[in-house]
Amino acid sequence: MCGIIGIMSDKGPAAPRLLEGLTRLAYRGYDSAGVATLAGGALHRRRAEGKIAALAEKLAADSPPGTRGIGHTRWATHGGPTEINAHPHATDKVAVVHNGIIENHAALRVEMEAAGHVFTTQTDTEVIVHLVTENLSRGMDPRAAAFAALDRLEGAYAVVFLFADEGAPMIGGRCGTPLAVGWGEGEVFLASDSYALAPLTSRVTFLEDGDRVVVTAQEAQIVDCAGSTVERPVRTSTISAAQIGKGDHKHFMHKEIHEQPAVLGELINGLVFEPAVLEALAATPRLTMAACGTAAYACRVGAYWLESLARLPCAVDIASEFRYRTPPLPEKGAALFVSQSGETLDTLEALRYARSQGQTIISILNTIESTMERESDYVLRTHAGPEIGVASTKATAAQLTVLAGLALALAGDRPDEAAALRHLPALMVEVLERETEIAGLARVLAGFTHMLYIGRGPLYPLACEGSLKMKEISYIHAEAYAGGEFKHGPIALIDEDFPTVALAPSTDPLFDKMRSNMEELAARGGKILLLSDADGVAAMGKTATWSFAVPEVHPFTAPILYLLPLQLLAYHAALAKGTDADQPRNLAKSVTVE
Ligand code: G6P
Repeated sequence: MCGIIGIMSDKGPAAPRLLEGLTRLAYRGYDSAGVATLAGGALHRRRAEGKIAALAEKLAADSPPGTRGIGHTRWATHGGPTEINAHPHATDKVAVVHNGIIENHAALRVEMEAAGHVFTTQTDTEVIVHLVTENLSRGMDPRAAAFAALDRLEGAYAVVFLFADEGAPMIGGRCGTPLAVGWGEGEVFLASDSYALAPLTSRVTFLEDGDRVVVTAQEAQIVDCAGSTVERPVRTSTISAAQIGKGDHKHFMHKEIHEQPAVLGELINGLVFEPAVLEALAATPRLTMAACGTAAYACRVGAYWLESLARLPCAVDIASEFRYRTPPLPEKGAALFVSQSGETLDTLEALRYARSQGQTIISILNTIESTMERESDYVLRTHAGPEIGVASTKATAAQLTVLAGLALALAGDRPDEAAALRHLPALMVEVLERETEIAGLARVLAGFTHMLYIGRGPLYPLACEGSLKMKEISYIHAEAYAGGEFKHGPIALIDEDFPTVALAPSTDPLFDKMRSNMEELAARGGKILLLSDADGVAAMGKTATWSFAVPEVHPFTAPILYLLPLQLLAYHAALAKGTDADQPRNLAKSVTVE
């Protein structure tokens, strides 16, 4: 999973523009980065290990010349995150940037080595550059050399080639991972997404799988997988620079946490579902749901709602397991996929499996123009706007809101729950206003090495989400268990160094059960951070070591409201530990490899 960009222009210097694009693509990976430019018939490469700032420093000291270039920000798959393995990979004739995995790279490498090519990296990508170079040395022109190389590749890729030849076009291709063309005035751009293109142009064309694109500074010709020249629609991107800036916030994650009341307010106001979606859900004997990471926890919360309110049986799985389990799916069934990016390959392949089994495909998506959108029968939009922080926050809240709305729409007359949903943004504001209190608690938690999160009902998957947030950005080991389950084993871990975050609104029908579970922990010396409302905090008395009184909330919407203190706890624990909340180690925001 990586971000790529290409600039075909005769205007200003390419390097600073490439760098800005890479900064916008950093959410896709940030363990190393690089650029290559073309000037004087030669390629000029600069690469750096580490975050984009390391490349920026290199470019500030020694910017490569030229108005044309390609750039890459990497999330390592094959070969460690070193400068040698950083893209672009190049020979003296051609440079390439690649997002994806070439599955037959080992066989191609043997073939290229036999032909005399010397490999210098551990990446799967390097084989591409040798294939093209070999083709060029056999007399093919750049276009033919690139196309013939792409024909040999198996796996997933978006690639951009820059040739050491002023007369050659830039060539791009996509198969399984995204690539977009940006149309400028007398210049053309390629990039993994429209965020990277936003400062360059608002006119964007998304390539389809199998498409290749031949780019000059004046025009771009798109060729489909059958080799025919095709027209693809040009869209006007509405992404503004402000949407992808941090504003006054220290991190995107913080900004995105604070955007949640506004995002949900608008979303709830406009929440209507196409009758065909509701019909498909009403008709399915069982709803299949699959997603990855945070989105999978959103599915699990949603399943509680859909089953209890709408009486719709649900089968939820993480996408990477689902597709290889090859489960039998109901005849005339429906399947629901949830994804912020719409590009996560595990989820996409799960979707494709469900489609192959004749299911109606419904997706809940945030990013516009994604591959999942194109492959779904119906798309429910979360309208959260661009989410840049790697740890999902506002997109999760919006996914939950759409799922809650869907459960209500299917359940029929539920005035109390509907009113609770409408009231939610106001309660969220109340939580955010008390951020300082939560920050204080987070600083205490940051002193521990391990912690447990517990909840019951839909607050159990929410506890899983809280623990995921904590571990991914603060690197504290956090486990989550259903309130009733941890006594069946994990309770052995509990001592005064292993605190528990307990999600227990007093309005929840299972509050008394949670109360017993907390007593069990306290009796064993376990420290408890209680997230409840004022009544719950009062009822628990001294059993909890620390507490935060969340505003009283209807149990239906509690999972969405309780998400906020969990996000803030993780964020402030990360600040206390000095980790990078927006770009935690080893992660990428959307993972387009298996
Ligand atoms: C990655 C991210 C997670 C995210 C998951 C699913 O693993 O690090 O934060 O939840 O992908 O992403 P999606 O875009 O499909 O929601």
